[in-house]
Amino acid sequence: MDPLNRDTFFHKDNELFTTVDGVLTPVKTLIGSSEKPIYIYSKSCIEKRINAYKLAFKEKAAHIHYAVKANSNLEVLKFIKSLGVGADVVSIGEFNRALEAGFKASEIIFSGVGKTKLEIKEALTKGCRQLNCESLSEFRRIGELSKALKIKAYVGVRINPDITVETHPYIATGFRENKFGVPLKQISELVELAKSFKESVEWVGLSCHIGSQIMTTDPLVLASQALVNTAKDLKSYGIEIKSLDVGGGLGVDYQDDDESKDLKSIQAFGEKVCHVLKDFSGEVCLEPGRSIVARSGLLLARVEYVKTNGFKNFIVLNTGMHHLMRPSLYQAYHKIVPIDFNSARKLETFDVVGPICESSDVLGHDRSFYRPHEEEWVAILDAGAYGMSMASAYNHHEFPGEILM
Ligand SMILES: Cc1ncc(COP(=O)(O)O)c(C=O)c1O
Repeated sequence: MDPLNRDTFFHKDNELFTTVDGVLTPVKTLIGSSEKPIYIYSKSCIEKRINAYKLAFKEKAAHIHYAVKANSNLEVLKFIKSLGVGADVVSIGEFNRALEAGFKASEIIFSGVGKTKLEIKEALTKGCRQLNCESLSEFRRIGELSKALKIKAYVGVRINPDITVETHPYIATGFRENKFGVPLKQISELVELAKSFKESVEWVGLSCHIGSQIMTTDPLVLASQALVNTAKDLKSYGIEIKSLDVGGGLGVDYQDDDESKDLKSIQAFGEKVCHVLKDFSGEVCLEPGRSIVARSGLLLARVEYVKTNGFKNFIVLNTGMHHLMRPSLYQAYHKIVPIDFNSARKLETFDVVGPICESSDVLGHDRSFYRPHEEEWVAILDAGAYGMSMASAYNHHEFPGEILM
């Protein structure tokens, strides 16, 4: 097992360290006397990635709308807001969370496939910048509600460009069989519908989000091209699209410690998308989540037991699928490292598991790990995205603590 050598978290003198306000800090001091697992997030890691996005998309002066679903911790949101970006939300709960963090309603894009009437009404009343609509029925619903409320609705239509991506099928969203977006062949029908609501709805934009944890830029570029083409088609119907929202989706290599590659892939993504959008004179938006916050977070957990059953060794932690669902939900990989890195110990193979009464509660299969002592702490890496935001109280366990450094 090699010591960790990252920008944000690294082993030094057999211990896991980070820097807090420029001061080298042993991670174990952040645990204090906590009895429960703790997520810790690094501001500087988040800031680096937001700056990378700003730079990568500067040619189109794109508006970044951070996807709140990736990590909706209030302090994280406040910090992201302070960096001058907007928010992308998928429920009125997230909308209100973003408002609480200081985002203005005019900085929030409301996405999501199943908005209820109450959610739409509240978003309209509060002055939401744009509702990204995902079906003919939703367009009609927004039209009827905005008419009744006498509030103009600014709508972006999320298209489904029928693009296959190499990611887990549960997080692919732009294929024709997925529930998301409006198929391109329904656009002409949508045009007719839009005409009937032209007093109350302004169709301002097109959006596209074809999935998450996408490791190559090609499908993301294809999706942007689909936006450009659809905007051109709409022009011929007399609809002037003012804004293109290229979505999120850029992945993070959870197996690789070289963080500089994250920044390079953001740069490549930005350059290629800006190239495709070069002739589009309107505004460009994007909604990244994972690539901004994933690397910033650690989930710190205590080893409760080290056991063997004659077939396997297990490290049983005080955290599991209820706090970090990704491994159970879509076989996602997270590195797990000791906080006390003592190479004098014996390296063995373990399944790293949680306390939940489900056999799927495994955070890492067949991991090579120094046999830990019971009650020592370990760190689960790259847990800043879709970690705490997906946590549940299953089995009535407590939620983890959270610290923003
Ligand atoms: C509509 C929408 N926008 C943005 C995102 C953020 O995606 P990611 O975290 O992969 O960047 C998601 C997540 O899947 C989404 O559903």
